Amino acid sequence: MPVFVKSNYKEPLPLIYFERCCNELLRLVNRSHQELNVFFTDDEEIKSINEKWFNRPWPTNCISFSMDESDVLGDIVISVDRAKKEAELGITTVKIRLVELVIHGLVHLLGFDHELSEEERMAMEQEEFILKTRLFRRNVMADLCINVDHVATIRQARGGTEPDPVVAAGIVELAGADGIVVHLREDRRHIQDRDVRLLRQTVQTRLTLEMAATDEMIKIASEIKPDIVTLVPEKRQELTTEGGLDVKGLESSIKDAVNRLHDAGIPVSLFVDPEEDQIEASSRVGAECIEIHTGRYADAEDAETQDREFEQIVKMAKFASDVGLRVHAGHGLKYHNTARLAAISEIVEFSIGHSIISRAVMVGLDKAVRDMLKIVKGM
Ligand code: PXP
Repeated sequence: MPVFVKSNYKEPLPLIYFERCCNELLRLVNRSHQELNVFFTDDEEIKSINEKWFNRPWPTNCISFSMDESDVLGDIVISVDRAKKEAELGITTVKIRLVELVIHGLVHLLGFDHELSEEERMAMEQEEFILKTRLFRRNVMADLCINVDHVATIRQARGGTEPDPVVAAGIVELAGADGIVVHLREDRRHIQDRDVRLLRQTVQTRLTLEMAATDEMIKIASEIKPDIVTLVPEKRQELTTEGGLDVKGLESSIKDAVNRLHDAGIPVSLFVDPEEDQIEASSRVGAECIEIHTGRYADAEDAETQDREFEQIVKMAKFASDVGLRVHAGHGLKYHNTARLAAISEIVEFSIGHSIISRAVMVGLDKAVRDMLKIVKGM
């Protein structure tokens, strides 16, 4: 990753947010190929840096060190203590002030200098204003869409009516999720047609329908009209989706499915492994999005393999974004391995299911037992 954001500040900071902002800013100024280091610290440390390098023994809000190398843009050091005071004066939040300071430092690295003349100061301020406006117009953080198939799996175990994935989807939305995902499988092992039809009526955010590219499914999707369809490969014997879709190998049939969904007014995402030829094929067949299959990364058995898979996802997310595809990611992501991917600014949406429903069982079990104890024992 070309952006490294670190902090030794006494309080925790949302570093993933700043990392995504920096990646986005580098893209906006066409410097994505260059490394940028951002370091958040306090007044005391920035004072000693200011004294050591510029002979100014006082704290300041931001110092930029230009590297002037083809592959490294430079370093930006920011005092969070200063940012806090300035946020109060400027009636803004500390987080926003810190982003403004990152932009200020970056614009310095691009060669602007407000201390040279009034004209330069105005030019620098204008550049900062433009970057800030363009950055904040975007949704910097990725969306989280939640797959509720696993709620339906528990219901289907008894063949009854509870727990209902439609009710679960409502709770998921109230908790702040950006979308609901369901996979209507050919064998209807969890989500049923009734669920998708009801969800179409109740979901207030976005409804993603995962499905195989079959005639039956295309007909159902064309009728129900989810907000987006994600085409996935499907095998009857598998426990869950195993590999990505072979868009390259099945190019003409996938293209036909994409066209038919487009005719019904439904945008299409293709669930693919992080491989260049699959992404190129996804672009050729006219999909709007890809969902990068994160299974190999999530299931890696050692740190070295995980690092390798991570780098491949970073590379392919950039590649897909450069060819004009929206990039989603998902499968097998857990609480301990998602943060690293969340910092990749090209990934604009995560689709996560199993680990969230698993945690819901664990964090909800205590209350569920107590509720039944009240009934059985009156306590
Ligand atoms: N994305 C796709 C295409 C999937 O098939 C699944 C599993 O249904 C997920 C994301 C979510 O995976 P998990 O349940 O492992 O979080």
